[in-house]
Amino acid sequence: MWWKYAIGYQIYPASFCDSNHDGIGDIQGIISKLDYLQDLGVTLLWVCPFFDSPMDDNGYDIRDHRRVNAIFGANEDLELLINAVHQRKMRIICDLVLNHTSDEHPWFIESKDASSEKHDYYIWREGKPNNPPNNWASFFSQSAWTYDAQRDASYLRIFSGKMPDLNWENRNVRSAMADIARFWLDKGMDGFRMDAISHLAKDQTFADSTLPLNIHGYAPDWDKFSNRERLFDYLHEFQAEVFDNRDALRIGEVGGCASLEMARRFTSKDEGCFDMIFSFDHCWENDSYGNDTQEEQKFTVNTDRLKRTFEHWYQGMNKDRWQAVYWLNHDHPRVLSHYGDDTIYRNEAAKMLCNTLYFMMGTPFIYNGEEIGMSNVDYKQLTDFKDISAENYIASREKSLSQEKMLRFLKRASRVNARTPMQWDDSAYAGFSDVAPWTKVNGNYKEVNVAAEQKDPHSILNHYKAMIRLRKEPLIEDLVLFGTLTFIDIEHKDIFAYRKQSGDKALVVISNFKAFTVVFSYDYPLGMIMGHNYETVQWKAGQFILRPYESLVMIYE
Ligand code: GLC
Ligand code: CA
Repeated sequence: MWWKYAIGYQIYPASFCDSNHDGIGDIQGIISKLDYLQDLGVTLLWVCPFFDSPMDDNGYDIRDHRRVNAIFGANEDLELLINAVHQRKMRIICDLVLNHTSDEHPWFIESKDASSEKHDYYIWREGKPNNPPNNWASFFSQSAWTYDAQRDASYLRIFSGKMPDLNWENRNVRSAMADIARFWLDKGMDGFRMDAISHLAKDQTFADSTLPLNIHGYAPDWDKFSNRERLFDYLHEFQAEVFDNRDALRIGEVGGCASLEMARRFTSKDEGCFDMIFSFDHCWENDSYGNDTQEEQKFTVNTDRLKRTFEHWYQGMNKDRWQAVYWLNHDHPRVLSHYGDDTIYRNEAAKMLCNTLYFMMGTPFIYNGEEIGMSNVDYKQLTDFKDISAENYIASREKSLSQEKMLRFLKRASRVNARTPMQWDDSAYAGFSDVAPWTKVNGNYKEVNVAAEQKDPHSILNHYKAMIRLRKEPLIEDLVLFGTLTFIDIEHKDIFAYRKQSGDKALVVISNFKAFTVVFSYDYPLGMIMGHNYETVQWKAGQFILRPYESLVMIYE
């Protein structure tokens, strides 16, 4: 159970560090930053897909599962990375994308021939270009089906047209995917983040959905291909074939479709296959997602709802399960802009978000750049958003929304916000590369960068470092990982406060989520302050006066 004690860090390889002057981050770039990561205190890296891919969906569209994408390096580089990580007593996991491949994968090319051995490696049905086999909508665009002229049939693809879904009903597909998983474990990978895992099983009747249709005339009926009973058979078999007798970490990405009940099944010994899951429930508690017509620039966090969400998951998982906790990943906007403040209070807000999440429970995953307070993009044009989901969004709204509104929405909610180059220093291109990067650097890199923050004892980076170090102290680690979590005044609309208790020891975090001063009743003595984002404490018996984004971590021994 080494992973209970891990401090995770997610790396988006294309945007982390470019070692060979082509504007794209790479494996050697990651190796060159391992000292930085070790110094930060992280012990577990999750590296997003680096496999051979035409990069339609930035690498989640895999063409060759066993080969490193040439833009990121060679297989030898990856082996060096794994060794270098292990030498530092850190661990490394990668994505395992089981639901789909690229349409350039040799299996798919072969599958277009209806008489080939691989003819049902994918999900083919009769259908014509404008007459798909059923009315299901896809996650990224219109119909979930794409017509192929060679086979004169349509294939299911719940993400992009270049990402056909594998047919998990086919035993050979399942064995082939198990082989790939074993291949990477044998290379030294310490486990996987299992991508889009809730979607492997589809409604095998392929009947039309009866849900209301979207503006394109398709039904966004995710139940047709999410969390279906049959999925548990696949997972059970996969577990036995790949993971039994191996100490590999298995994290399921179950996205926004999984209930607590499902999550419990996913992480149960008998049915599931995961040590923990990534749930998305806490990620959109400011209503900003999906809302692109509202004029308001800033959506405020519903602090009370956010607490309830964490409480719900804690109550459901705490006794006999484990959780991964994180603020954002490569599919979300930057948390500082999303839940905090990226203007005058950026320093306070970033530290507040750090305190709030990382003492609560579970295995944390920091997303690259979060530790220096990177924020959403300052892009000026729609064409700056080089991402298939942003492009599909623009295509679907072009006729109904102004450019300005689409731009505002993408700057707030697009996953591109998390994908800009890591800001290492104040030189051109933020020290990420010495040539123009594949996607524009955020204009604030002169102020917001690793080098500047390393020098400043009050920086966000040094706060993260100190808090990680604090969390690793045995007493604190025990409270964080195994103490009982209770929210203090859970109904409070502005303050996020909780206590972790174990015997007569306790840790308390009190965070102001708002840009204004709040008086907060607190009927306990003041504890020993171990983390704080202001110089002075405004406390008198019974209450705190908390300034904008003020946050304290206290212990009681
Ligand atoms: C997951 C990934 C996302 C990708 C999708 C399809 O949700 O996190 O980036 O687009 O799966 O593979
Ligand atoms: Ca490169």
